[in-house]
Amino acid sequence: MKRIVVLVSGAGSNLQAIIDACEQGRINATLSAVFSNKASAYGLERAQSAGIPAHALDPKSYADRVAFDAALADEIDAYQPDLVVLAGYMRILSDEFVARYAGRMINIHPSLLPKYPGLHTHQKAIDNQDAEHGTSVHFVTQELDGGPVILQAKVPVFEDDSADDLHERVQHQEHDIYPLVVSWFVDGRLTLLDGKVMLDGQVVPAQGHAAE
Ligand code: GAR
Repeated sequence: MKRIVVLVSGAGSNLQAIIDACEQGRINATLSAVFSNKASAYGLERAQSAGIPAHALDPKSYADRVAFDAALADEIDAYQPDLVVLAGYMRILSDEFVARYAGRMINIHPSLLPKYPGLHTHQKAIDNQDAEHGTSVHFVTQELDGGPVILQAKVPVFEDDSADDLHERVQHQEHDIYPLVVSWFVDGRLTLLDGKVMLDGQVVPAQGHAAE
């Protein structure tokens, strides 16, 4: 059985979607542990409720980002994960951390990348009067929210939408596509090869897999 470790900083609704998919056999893997940079993250409670080891590391206890990431990686590696899943993990990663999990760490970001890396993506879509918005799952590389896209899901933007409305609509999609991508990876269907996303032996286009 493949092993997954998930990193969270907040509510952990995407973590919950992955927990549910593991329990229902839609993801053929064991969720070995959940880590957070915030002891108060609700995601840690979700993990505990599901009987999954949950750990918090406080960045303030470490000299710098590299030291924190090295300590975190050592704790993660005690679980020997095949895949590291960032699920609302809101910390910039050191280059060393990214290199350590190259090709086996994925992230979900609430925009149609390469549009709107960083924060406040829903408000940006509204301010720019975008007709559509969405979410992207991508392999993690040194570039913030910039790695090769695996899968995107689109949502419409309506005239009277608030950022909260969009957040809710986008999260609904996230809870579908993130467990799906995790299942592809653990089933050995998804790899990163020379910077390109490969699904079932085919190169995935730059905007991600094209299924509707
Ligand atoms: C998700 O919407 C995810 O796309 C976003 O944080 C949220 C976490 O929600 N991630 C980023 O912005 C990463 N740059 P959750 O804690 O309920 O899963």
